Amino acid sequence: MRLRALIRLSMSMRLRRLSIAAAATLLATACGGAVVDEAPDAAPASVAATTEPTTTPAPTTTAAATPTTEPATTTEPETAPAPETTLAPTTTTRPPTEAEGLGDSFYPFMGNGGYDVLHYDIDLDVDPAVNAISASTTIEALATADLETFNLDLSGLEVHSVTVDGAAAEFSRYGHELAIEPPDALASGSQFTVEVVYSGSPEQIDDPGVPFFPSGWTQQEGVIYTVSQPSGSMTWFPSNNHPTDKATYEIRITVPEGLTAASNGLLVDETTADGETTFVWRTDHLMATYLAAVYIGDFERIDHGPLYEGGPILRDYVIRDAPPEVKLALEVTPEVVAYMEELFGPYPFDAYGTIVMPFPLGFALENQTLSIHGNDTIISWIIAHEVAHQWLGNSVALDDWSEIWMNEGIVSYLHLMYAAKDAGTDLNDDMARWHARLIDSEAGPPRGIEIEDLFGLSVYYRGAATLHALRLHTGDEVFFDMLRAHYDRSAGGTTNTAEFLALVEEMAGPDAVELVESWLYDETVPATL
Ligand code: ARG
Ligand code: ZN
Repeated sequence: MRLRALIRLSMSMRLRRLSIAAAATLLATACGGAVVDEAPDAAPASVAATTEPTTTPAPTTTAAATPTTEPATTTEPETAPAPETTLAPTTTTRPPTEAEGLGDSFYPFMGNGGYDVLHYDIDLDVDPAVNAISASTTIEALATADLETFNLDLSGLEVHSVTVDGAAAEFSRYGHELAIEPPDALASGSQFTVEVVYSGSPEQIDDPGVPFFPSGWTQQEGVIYTVSQPSGSMTWFPSNNHPTDKATYEIRITVPEGLTAASNGLLVDETTADGETTFVWRTDHLMATYLAAVYIGDFERIDHGPLYEGGPILRDYVIRDAPPEVKLALEVTPEVVAYMEELFGPYPFDAYGTIVMPFPLGFALENQTLSIHGNDTIISWIIAHEVAHQWLGNSVALDDWSEIWMNEGIVSYLHLMYAAKDAGTDLNDDMARWHARLIDSEAGPPRGIEIEDLFGLSVYYRGAATLHALRLHTGDEVFFDMLRAHYDRSAGGTTNTAEFLALVEEMAGPDAVELVESWLYDETVPATL
């Protein structure tokens, strides 16, 4: 039985080398921890960043990745009135009810009203041979209104049962809404526990904000990974799927012995029994749903220890037998984290690292504490970009997806700063070249985008140029004080452009606000930086 499972698994892995390595590992005796101790060299990575605009496009647009699985099909029609297309902008759908969505400008049906999630306990039994999960998600939540019913977001999969405070609850599904009716109404202010038991093969979804890549749980070339920004986490666990409702998480992943399962936060337990290994990951820091991640494959863990005494633990994951360049490229991480700490203060979580897929992705994504990169995106400026997101994007999240420039624009400015320092170029020259490119491509206002431009040039680089223009206006001292204050005021929470402008007004005055507004809102790119 064990051997048959092993052969099935090996056959399902498309990469021959990976399949041999996995089989060898599985056949080895007592493969408890895949943890490999490896101290990082003092030498920084030799992969040089370049600040040339033509060679540093937005991380998301470097290449078109090929999806390996079909985009998700829509769920069965149900009796309840289905939103036409649950991810589309408000203008093309009816508005959500309070239970159905939070009214985000781009994703009105994402998230759900009436409660606040405190904690997710996600238990996944994964069969990589058929890409199926048998799962339960237990949610601790606080009712913020009297509730006779409430919704969770879940796309695809089959729901077997739902309990609220241990009692069986009625449920129905339409679109990605899982509507739950507890046997007893919940009083506003009361805490409750909901458990959803479900299974099936997770299916990627077409997210209109990410037209270049299917979103959610993905199996590709013998590896399982999740890329869920903004909406894809509902392909593998039921949630209040909006960054305004952050929570703590425990993610427990059971896989066939020999495989490694990684996730967010700290690995708190790893137990092997009966041919299966369970990895338990925990984060006591708040996290948005889209940053929750699962990675399964024949990965090798590279431990670097804490950045400094009491500092974050640094560890990376690469596919076993990865080429040496892969590990070498990651050696820049401690230096990058230290660089961002200089600007923003202590790293906000317990751990950081990169997991490198054994294939190209065309982008990287800042999944909290363990960013995902393709083997084409382990470049120092992209590593710097995802590290910077841990402060801006992850600790400080957006309160609406239309605010995306505050993640990507600010973080792109930080990666450009890092890249200039790393490559010894003049940031002013680099920014002048970006400015020319923005004018050339008539990049529109980063705060006035359409949903399909969430990860486009304007958001990343007109957003970055906005900060550079502000810095030239205020001078370095005020600028860096403002950046730091922006982080400090919203650390662990969410923010928006209005709050940022209020800060600029307070610390740099009304002329600075006017300047920032012209960069964020004017149709044409401002003529001077
Ligand atoms: N936030 C990511 C970055 O800037 C972009 C991820 C885009 N891809 C996606 N599937 N959402 O690096
Ligand atoms: Zn980014």
